Amino acid sequence: MTLRQNVAILISGRGSNMQSLVRACSAPDYPAKVVLVLSNKADATGLDYAREAGIATAVISHKDYPDRASFDAAMDAEIRRHGAELICLAGFMRLLDSRIIEAWRDRMINIHPSLLPSFRGLDTHERALEAGVKLAGCSVHFVRPDVDTGPIIAQAAVPVLPDDTPDSLAARVLEQEHMIYPVALRLVAEGRVRVEGDRAFVDASCTMRSLRNPDSL
Ligand code: GRF
Repeated sequence: MTLRQNVAILISGRGSNMQSLVRACSAPDYPAKVVLVLSNKADATGLDYAREAGIATAVISHKDYPDRASFDAAMDAEIRRHGAELICLAGFMRLLDSRIIEAWRDRMINIHPSLLPSFRGLDTHERALEAGVKLAGCSVHFVRPDVDTGPIIAQAAVPVLPDDTPDSLAARVLEQEHMIYPVALRLVAEGRVRVEGDRAFVDASCTMRSLRNPDSL
């Protein structure tokens, strides 16, 4: 029987990465189970998908709390109430306080639509195009207090085409996000990622196999 780590996914919007994680978790041998989809926005469209999939959902609005620390504490309590052991940030658009980040150190991961450490923060695709890079991509990393930093678990690259717009590039990168986030979560949930300082080391025997065929592990 597959041992499954309980996962909470935090979203703020459409939640397409959350959906890719939920789909991955529906495989019988996948080592994670989504126990909660939490949004800071009641109108996040991703919540509808989660509800239809029969997953517990919660809305905790940052507007109901006087400061970041109390908002984070409320989320932390809700996440623990559902028995989560890992947190996936998937388009969650609030900065987190260092206290919750440290409490979930190496158990909280994020996906960012750039090849980190380039283009941290917002408007990544616009800035990548302005910089004239020839490769763009996405990264899954452990979360650290500075935004979009932390040991990198997985990345995927896509070529930048001469006629790309921020939207066309974003769409091509998003396809790759949907591939690598489930792979990265699988590796973390199976304890195959070791963090040393600022770097994450993945059990080499599974890396190529999982990226070639995410369903093969
Ligand atoms: C994705 O591009 C993700 O990398 C970034 O925000 C976007 C969220 O998209 N952090 P979705 O809500 O997962 O569709």
